[in-house]
Order: sequence, then structure tokens, then C-alpha cells
Amino acid sequence: MLNIALPKGRLGEKVYTMFAASGFDCPEILGDSRKLVFENQKTGVRFFWVKPSDVAVYVERGAADIGVAGKDIIDEYMPDIYEVLDLKTGKCRMCVAAKKDFRDNADVTLRVATKFSNIARRYYASLGREIDIIHLNGSIELAPVLGMSDVIVDIVETGTTLKENGLEVKETIMPISARLIANKASYEFKRNDVLRVIEGLRRQVEANK
Ligand code: PRP
Repeated sequence: MLNIALPKGRLGEKVYTMFAASGFDCPEILGDSRKLVFENQKTGVRFFWVKPSDVAVYVERGAADIGVAGKDIIDEYMPDIYEVLDLKTGKCRMCVAAKKDFRDNADVTLRVATKFSNIARRYYASLGREIDIIHLNGSIELAPVLGMSDVIVDIVETGTTLKENGLEVKETIMPISARLIANKASYEFKRNDVLRVIEGLRRQVEANK
């Protein structure tokens, strides 16, 4: 059995269709249930629904052989895994955003609200900019609206959340997309199975172009 961690939610459902189209289907997964583990003996796969930010943990620890995680999560937590394929879906970008009228003053410490503290720290260190990180777990856009931070470092997909809160993108840090990741030991010991999945998904990525 190949154990596969999928991010629960819209991205996971989309990515599951890519697995299914590659021959690794598990029809039971599409039913309306609260189950978290689904397997198909015939195709030899077992899928888990995992909180998106936890996928890399399951893969790093070998509870899952492979999984799908956003590049944002990989860069934030830097898990000891192999990143094996860009699935070119779940596309968005990591940005610095602020109120429209915000003007940076390099003489004062910049207050940065984010869920992605490591990405933010590395980005501002590369600019030599002194910052104060305010680590939040969600609704990051609220921080500059309430004057708690000067900027946010967060994911922007459609831009709607920023717009509806009077914020705008000031800088783009990096593009983000979903990646197939593999446990290092599984990549050695279940090599043929892992490579079959990679090849199948690679064809789906090509077909979706
Ligand atoms: C993410 C992100 C932004 C929003 C961006 O939040 O943190 O708030 O999506 O999407 P948009 O550009 O299409 O508006 P998420 O929905 O993951 O919730 P969160 O507030 O818990 O981070």
C-alpha cells in the first residue's frame, strides 16, 4: 500500500482527481462522510485527509509515503522530504501587503503580521530590513486594518480579501503552487510505486496545461 496524505479542502479534491485520472483512484473518497482514511486494494493506495499545513509532517515522519503540500508550507517549515513534482495547481503568491496609503519608513522597525514567520524573516533579512514579527494563525488582514501591524506577509490568490479590507499588494515574495512531496525512505524502498505515481501525475500536469 502506498500511503498518500492529501490536504483537506478544495485543493485536495482537485488534486485527488489528478491521482484518479492517473490510475490511482479510490471512489469511496468522494462520498459524503467524516472518514479520514480511504483505501483501494485494487490500485494499492491509501489516502488520508490531513490539515493542509500538516501534510509535510506526515510525510517527513513516514506516516505517509507521499503527499501534496503548498510551496508556502514547504518553505515555511522546511521539512526533511523530497519535493518531487510541481503540480501547477493551487496557484497563488506570497506577498507583502499593506493599507493603500502605507509608506515605508526604513528608519523604524517594520511590524509584520503573518502566519509565515520564517518566510517573512528570511525575506526581510535578505533586504537587511529590521522587523518585528507578529505571529497570527489566520485573518491576517485584520492586523494592519486595526493598526496592529504595518504590513502583512500572506498568500494572495484572487486578491479579494485584500481589496475588501482596503489593502493592496506592495511586493511579491514568490509564486506558490501545490507540490508532490515524498518521504526520503519511501523514495528508496517503495521507489517503483512512488515513480509510477510521479509519472502518472506528470502526465496529468502536461494534459492540464
Ligand atoms: C488565505 C489567505 C488570505 C486569503 C487570500 O486565507 O491567508 O486571507 O486566503 O485569498 P484571496 O486573495 O483569494 O482573497 P485562508 O482562507 O486560508 O484563511 P485564514 O484567514 O485562516 O488564513
